[in-house]
Amino acid sequence: MVKLNLIAAACENMGIGKNGTLPWRLKTEMEFFTRMTSTTKDKNKKNIVIMGRKTWDSIPPKYKPLSNRINCVLSRSDLDVKRYKDVHAFRNLEECIEKLEGNDFRDRWETVWVIGGSNIYKESMESEHFYRLYLTKILKEFDCDTFFPKMPDNLKKVSDPKFQKMSKRKETLSLCTTSMRTLSAKYFIKYLKAAFTVDCI
Ligand SMILES: NC(=O)c1ccc[n+]([C@@H]2O[C@H](COP(=O)([O-])OP(=O)(O)OC[C@H]3O[C@@H](n4cnc5c(N)ncnc54)[C@H](OP(=O)(O)O)[C@@H]3O)[C@@H](O)[C@H]2O)c1
Repeated sequence: MVKLNLIAAACENMGIGKNGTLPWRLKTEMEFFTRMTSTTKDKNKKNIVIMGRKTWDSIPPKYKPLSNRINCVLSRSDLDVKRYKDVHAFRNLEECIEKLEGNDFRDRWETVWVIGGSNIYKESMESEHFYRLYLTKILKEFDCDTFFPKMPDNLKKVSDPKFQKMSKRKETLSLCTTSMRTLSAKYFIKYLKAAFTVDCI
């Protein structure tokens, strides 16, 4: 069964976007995102990134499609992505999941990441396929027009060795406090929809 891993960065007012882009520039956060969503154990496989059409539009041309990942874009209209390799458009999340579980795809991918935006996060958290949310909390308020949706009540904080390794947390913190306009960042709170809890960092 497909497990949806959500990854997002939200500021104090739970904002995630402004004018079709990110409200902040955080290089290490972007590197963390890339590492988390790209790394696979099996070098013959790639990870899936599922995103809404506006998030797809927000990716600068030189980074499009997100490299070393199979990009899946959700749109209710006909989205032409044929010119891109490893990019697929779907009409809804269910159709996308069905395709990923199908024979053409199943052996090609390792982990499924949902990378936003707002409604895609919401639908994913409501889905029976929802597995885990990796949420970077940025401890500053930004003016935003797009927000992370309300989280379900049954989320539990967990620790995750993969995450600890990838986060390079010390480095991230020092970089943010020195070069990011006194932006303080308490990174990487994560939640798991499951019946157990372990310590959160
Ligand atoms: N901080 C973060 O972690 C983070 C992560 C991602 C994005 N962002 C930011 O968030 C903003 C974009 O997010 P957003 O919420 O405005 O838009 P979005 O979710 O990226 O895209 C919305 C579009 O996706 C399609 N869509 C949404 N739900 C769908 C569904 N159930 N089935 C099929 N298609 C569906 C529709 O496309 P059509 O209109 O084509 O039908 C809809 O207009 C940007 O500012 C971006 O930079 C931030």
